[in-house]
Amino acid sequence: MTSIRINDLSVTYGSGIQVIDRLHLDIEEGSFFTLLGPSGCGKTTLLRVIAGFIEPSAGQVHFGNIDMTRLPAHQRGIGMVFQDYALFPDKTVFDNVAYGLRARKIDGLTITRKVGEYLERVGMQGFAERYPPALSGGQRQRVALARALVIEPRVLLMDEPLSNLDSKLRLQIRSAIADLQREIGITTVFVTHDQEEALALSDQIALMKKGRIEQLGSPQEIYQRPASAYVADFIGAANLIQGEVQGPPLAAASPTSEVAIRIAGQDLRAQATPGQALSLGCLIARPENIQLLPAEHAPHNSLPGQVWRKQYLGHKTSYSIELADQQQVAVDCFGPARHEFACGQAVCLQFDAQSSRVVPR
Ligand SMILES: Nc1ncnc2c1ncn2[C@@H]1O[C@H](COP(=O)(O)OP(=O)(O)OP(=O)(O)O)[C@@H](O)[C@H]1O
Ligand SMILES: [Mg+2]
Repeated sequence: MTSIRINDLSVTYGSGIQVIDRLHLDIEEGSFFTLLGPSGCGKTTLLRVIAGFIEPSAGQVHFGNIDMTRLPAHQRGIGMVFQDYALFPDKTVFDNVAYGLRARKIDGLTITRKVGEYLERVGMQGFAERYPPALSGGQRQRVALARALVIEPRVLLMDEPLSNLDSKLRLQIRSAIADLQREIGITTVFVTHDQEEALALSDQIALMKKGRIEQLGSPQEIYQRPASAYVADFIGAANLIQGEVQGPPLAAASPTSEVAIRIAGQDLRAQATPGQALSLGCLIARPENIQLLPAEHAPHNSLPGQVWRKQYLGHKTSYSIELADQQQVAVDCFGPARHEFACGQAVCLQFDAQSSRVVPR
C-alpha cells in the first residue's frame, strides 16, 4: 500500500502532440481514485505512465517517497486489470492467476495456497481447472482481478474493467471490486468514462479534459459543486442556462458566495466561486433541484415558463420547460405529484439559491 504523487507530468507522443500537460496529482494511500473523462482526454496514457509502460517527457511519478519515474513496470509492484481481461487463453484459471507468483519464483505450496485464497476472494473457487474461453465475461474479469491482486501489489490499476460487460454484470462486478478494494485497502487508480461508475466507486475523482485535470474532488463535491459547465455537463444531468451576472465580481476574500444572474429579464440568486471573473455566466441547476409550480405562485428566485414536453417515467415525471427567451430547462418531479402540469401550460420554475451555481460561460 502506498500513496502516489504525480508531479508536473507531461507526455508527448511521437508526432509531437502533448497528451498530458504538466499535470499534478496526489493520490492518498488506500484510496479509490478515479480518472474520469471523455474519449481521448488522456486517461489511459496517465494510467500507463503510473504503471511504467510509458515514459513521460517531463515530470515524476512517486510511490510513497520512492521515485518510480525511471523504474520499469515489473519493478513497480503494480497489479493491472484491463478492459479486455488479457488472460492467457491456453492456460487454466489456476495457471493464469499463478503466473505472477511463478515469475517471482515463489514456492509451489505457497502458490497453491495463494491462488486458492484469491480465487475465493473473487468468488471463483471451483473454476481453477477451466480455461478462459469457457468463462463468461464477468467470470473472466474476476479471474483477471485475482491475477492482479495475488502478487499483493502496492497499487491496483484498472483501465475500464467493466466496459465489456452487459449492464447487469457490470453492476455485479462493480460491487465486487468495491468490496474487495475496501477489504484489502489497496490504493487503486480506476479509469472510466462512465460518470455513474465514478460516483459509485470513488473516494476521489479527477475529471480530465484534454490532458489536464478540470476538477478534483469527492463524488459529492464534483456533483454538487461543479467548477465549470464542462464538469456539470459531464457528471449527471444538468441545466446550463445562459444569463448575465449582475453587479461587480466577488472578491477572492468575499464573505459571501452569492451572486445574481439575469435570465430572460429576471434576476436569480445562486452560488459562485469568489474571485472568479464572471459577466456572461451560465447557471447550473440539476433537474431534481428545481421546483415546478403553477404560474400564479411566482415565489422569489423563480422564472416563468411553459411546459414544452412531459414524460411520465414511473418513479419520476420529467418536464421540459421553455423560458421566455426560448432556453429549455429540464425539471424532474419525484414521487406522487403535488401538481400535475400539461403541455402548453404556463408554470413557474423555482431555483434553490444554495444548490444552483453560476460559472463562466
Ligand atoms: N501510441 C500513441 N501514439 C500517438 N498518439 C496516441 C497514442 N496513444 C494515444 N494517443 C493519443 O493520445 C490521446 C489520449 O489517448 P488515451 O488513450 O490516453 O485516451 P483515453 O482518455 O484513455 O480515451 P478512451 O476513453 O477512448 O480510452 C488521444 O488523442 C490518442 O489519440
Ligand atoms: Mg483509454
